[in-house]
Amino acid sequence: MSILKIARMGHPVLLAKAGLVEDVSAPEIQALIAAMAETMFDAGGVGLAAPQVHVGLRLFVFRVPASRGDGVEIPLRAVVNPMIVPHEAAGRELGWEGCLSIPGLRAAVPRWREIRLSGLDEDGKAFDEVLTGFAARVVQHEADHLDGVLYPMRMEDFSRFGYNEELDRYPQELL
Ligand code: NI
Repeated sequence: MSILKIARMGHPVLLAKAGLVEDVSAPEIQALIAAMAETMFDAGGVGLAAPQVHVGLRLFVFRVPASRGDGVEIPLRAVVNPMIVPHEAAGRELGWEGCLSIPGLRAAVPRWREIRLSGLDEDGKAFDEVLTGFAARVVQHEADHLDGVLYPMRMEDFSRFGYNEELDRYPQELL
């Protein structure tokens, strides 16, 4: 296992569209998933997409800690070749997001409240489920990385963008 280097905003790998994973069971994909999980935990993140570690494949890992998920915890998961369909009737909501490729900053970003997510798990098994709230937010953020989209590109109000230390000192209400 190993800790991987995380690309920071400005590196072109973060703007490229990633390619499909053909064989989830391939040893190099299994090793990549393990290393991405280790890297995410080491960095204290809740999600990490393959392009962030310089690999142009449609794959991410994520987790939802109990403190962030309205009490609903999602342990570490890998998602391969994801497809997202927003449930537009549920609307969008603003929520705070950071990104391991944009260290030290966070912003309020609009995301769909509810999505349908399908794809393959770390064993190559197909799944199809509905996610809401923070889990839906994390998945939309990570899936965006696979298309070269970073959260500032989703923002509509740049007054809600700042350094973590300052936003901790001067909390902003999201209404
Ligand atoms: Ni990110």
